[in-house]
Amino acid sequence: MQNKILPPENKSSKLTRRDFIATASTAFMVPTIVPSSVFGANAPSNRINIAQIGCGNQSRADLPGMLRLEDAQVVAVCDVNKASGGYARKEHFLGRDPAQKKVNEHYAKKARSGKYQGCDAYSDFRDVLAREDIDAVMITLPDHWHALATVKACEAGKDVYCQKPMSLTVHDGQQMIKAVRKHNRILQTGSQYRSNKLVRRMCELVRNGRIGEVKRVVSIINSSGAGPGPGWKEMPVPAGFDYNMWLGPAPMAPYHSDRCFYRFRFHLDYSGGQVTNTGAHSTDIIQWALDMDGTGPVEFENQPGVVWPPKGHLYTTAMKTDFRARYANGIEFICRTQDPGFGARIEGTEGWVQFSVNNMREVEASSDAIKNSVITADEIHLPVSENHYQNFIDSVKSRKDPIEPVEAGHSTASICHLGNIAMRLKRKLKWDPEKEQFIGDDEANQMLQRPYRAPWQI
Ligand SMILES: NC(=O)c1ccc[n+]([C@@H]2O[C@H](COP(=O)([O-])OP(=O)(O)OC[C@H]3O[C@@H](n4cnc5c(N)ncnc54)[C@H](O)[C@@H]3O)[C@@H](O)[C@H]2O)c1
Repeated sequence: MQNKILPPENKSSKLTRRDFIATASTAFMVPTIVPSSVFGANAPSNRINIAQIGCGNQSRADLPGMLRLEDAQVVAVCDVNKASGGYARKEHFLGRDPAQKKVNEHYAKKARSGKYQGCDAYSDFRDVLAREDIDAVMITLPDHWHALATVKACEAGKDVYCQKPMSLTVHDGQQMIKAVRKHNRILQTGSQYRSNKLVRRMCELVRNGRIGEVKRVVSIINSSGAGPGPGWKEMPVPAGFDYNMWLGPAPMAPYHSDRCFYRFRFHLDYSGGQVTNTGAHSTDIIQWALDMDGTGPVEFENQPGVVWPPKGHLYTTAMKTDFRARYANGIEFICRTQDPGFGARIEGTEGWVQFSVNNMREVEASSDAIKNSVITADEIHLPVSENHYQNFIDSVKSRKDPIEPVEAGHSTASICHLGNIAMRLKRKLKWDPEKEQFIGDDEANQMLQRPYRAPWQI
């Protein structure tokens, strides 16, 4: 992991529609004879044109999140699945056609004519990236696609909102940083808890010493679903679903609905289980509280509570998680399954604070004095974002990094990957966060990268 958050480099790259508008608006003054209300802050030319890539479970949040913004316009959706049920819940009917319908209906309601058909639907994201009028893409794909889609989007001059966990491997994350910085792009990692006021409050309490010296942090995560056990049978690929494109860079494997829709997260070929699922959130909150963006622990160790699926099970990720890590300053990091819900607990010499998705009313604390403590004007205040999507759009316009830039997303995802590697190898591993290498362990280092299935490559 790199040590510092790097500012966007001032390298020249492909001039996009958005870059052109930004440059043009500062280069030429609007004649005063034209009132600004004619254009308005949200005139079509000022809106950021967005494509939603991946129209499954999380698009139920990402798509409305973007549609609600006055200065964004969703102009395209893309999914290898035309339409089907069977996502996180059976009744969720999702895919590119329902997403296109949702977008068109949304804008039709706002149009004077009551009609709108302006959102296009695609099955291949490369066709989306080829469109010059698209400024930014929402990557809401399974994790094994995040790096490839991000790198190709950056090469095509698009800004990227990439869902968490930012990467599938440490190597993928490194390639994403390179692409974002080389092409001068904006990347927001979809770790939306950085735009949550309770999380910000908890992190500010920690940063301002209210719990004393931090000693131990706990990344609390869920267990994984039961899934189809040994003896599972291959299923026919549903009509309207491009399975080969869904697999993309991942190894060829017999089709099963529990391999793909939503449950891809319980397969090591596509994700990292709950460690990278809810764990990407809880670990990210910890990284923010500790001011560790761009770096991470120096030691990772398997713990006895890990439960793996039985041999022959369709799922391959840990069903129950238990690993421990240690930062160079001695802070102990625990990641473990503790149903229900996920959250982050920070313990110090003078108390503890905790954020839990089961309690979205308040930050929990060891005392009322900590809970009600006021952060004064001269103390540390973290950047304020009330809406993760708006924060991204604001960054696209200002060309300044968003609240969770690519380097921060990378260090959080890396901790999750390294924990998974320690659990899989069942031994203590020493990590060099500067070089992003395990120390003296070739087998572990081999696991920092996965081969891509041809013809896919970064
Ligand atoms: N921020 C959050 O709170 C949050 C919550 C849930 C999921 N997520 C993240 O969102 C991502 C997607 O998860 P999900 O639950 O929506 O999964 P999902 O399986 O429900 O949806 C993924 C969609 O991507 C489509 N897809 C796969 N490969 C494609 C390709 N090459 N081109 C176009 N479409 C393709 C699939 O057909 C599917 O419709 C994951 O990285 C996950 O971790 C984030």
